[in-house]
Amino acid sequence: MESNKKYNSPFMATLTGITSLFVKRERVGVLSDRDRLDGKKVLITGASSGLGLATAKELARLGAEVIMAVRSGIPAKGEEVRKESGSAKVHMQFVDLSDFDSIKNLVENVKREFGKIDILICNAAVVASGARKTKSGLEEMFMVNYVSSYYLVRLMLEYKLMREDGVDLPRIVIVNSESHRDPKVFDWENFGVFQPYTMGKTVQLYGYYKLLLATFASELSRRLNKDKTNYSVFALCPGPVHSNIAREAPSIFKPILNIVFGIFFRSPKDACEPVVYLSASKDEEGKAFDYLFLMQRKTLDEKAEDRANGAKLWEMTEDLIKGLGVKI
Ligand SMILES: NC(=O)c1ccc[n+]([C@@H]2O[C@H](COP(=O)([O-])OP(=O)(O)OC[C@H]3O[C@@H](n4cnc5c(N)ncnc54)[C@H](OP(=O)(O)O)[C@@H]3O)[C@@H](O)[C@H]2O)c1
Repeated sequence: MESNKKYNSPFMATLTGITSLFVKRERVGVLSDRDRLDGKKVLITGASSGLGLATAKELARLGAEVIMAVRSGIPAKGEEVRKESGSAKVHMQFVDLSDFDSIKNLVENVKREFGKIDILICNAAVVASGARKTKSGLEEMFMVNYVSSYYLVRLMLEYKLMREDGVDLPRIVIVNSESHRDPKVFDWENFGVFQPYTMGKTVQLYGYYKLLLATFASELSRRLNKDKTNYSVFALCPGPVHSNIAREAPSIFKPILNIVFGIFFRSPKDACEPVVYLSASKDEEGKAFDYLFLMQRKTLDEKAEDRANGAKLWEMTEDLIKGLGVKI
């Protein structure tokens, strides 16, 4: 796969992440006392670790009822969020995002136990050490980092689980990465085809799946907001985060990565600021789309904003999922 080389290896990705933190930028805004989430329900994936866990704590502090959709950390991480936020309105739901049935179960449980959701945050992702086949036959990183968000969002809409009749617009927040700019082209021909890879290609593929996710976010906003703005679809890159994202790195590199991440990368608590801002800020109310890198407003890569790419990706993903015998 052709790439622009900023994220084509773990070394380049780390370096690019670090240098991005030293560029001076204008901040988009700050949360104020009026940006409370009392009475609102948030569903967030990947809330057992890193950015997702930190976001769950912050949103609970702002008064939201938080549903942590996780595949591990039940009940310990929920207890941690309750304790640190001082809120009792924190729930946990199991989901394995590499499994369509599990995502469907999550949505059915949410419907039964919580009803309508105000803010959906698609945050979970994996940086895999190599290709792994999921139950459906799709590659795990492709499934978790892109297809699961598409499927979860489509099901939430299909089940009418996003609150459309509230005072504020429902928000869908997609955690992305600036690495989505790196791939030069879409590989439509091999879309969804399981192809073996090893660690050497992981970072490139990670960027490619973030490009798919960014393109989906852009298309989702267009589809939901045809005549008027009904939904806010937001995307963001948190910048480099000292999380567990490199957990599958070869053990020989882990001590050095820990040191580099510890010194240069931001803590999840600091790094979750754009996720929290896009979820809670009144200044974002009424917008159909926004993209933040750290706390700076940017546009997505033009490939991701391209209408033809968005429409093609939407249809191809739907066909892929249906072709696997999975109903949307
Ligand atoms: N770290 C960075 O430098 C960086 C930079 C840009 C963007 N991001 C993005 O930030 C988001 C959060 O990542 P992070 O840095 O916080 O990494 P992290 O600490 O590794 O957290 C990833 C989360 O995703 C969950 N997850 C992975 N596979 C899953 C599956 N099959 N089913 C359900 N949950 C699954 C993990 O659950 P378990 O705990 O059970 O494994 C974990 O909660 C990701 O979208 C990532 O791409 C991170």
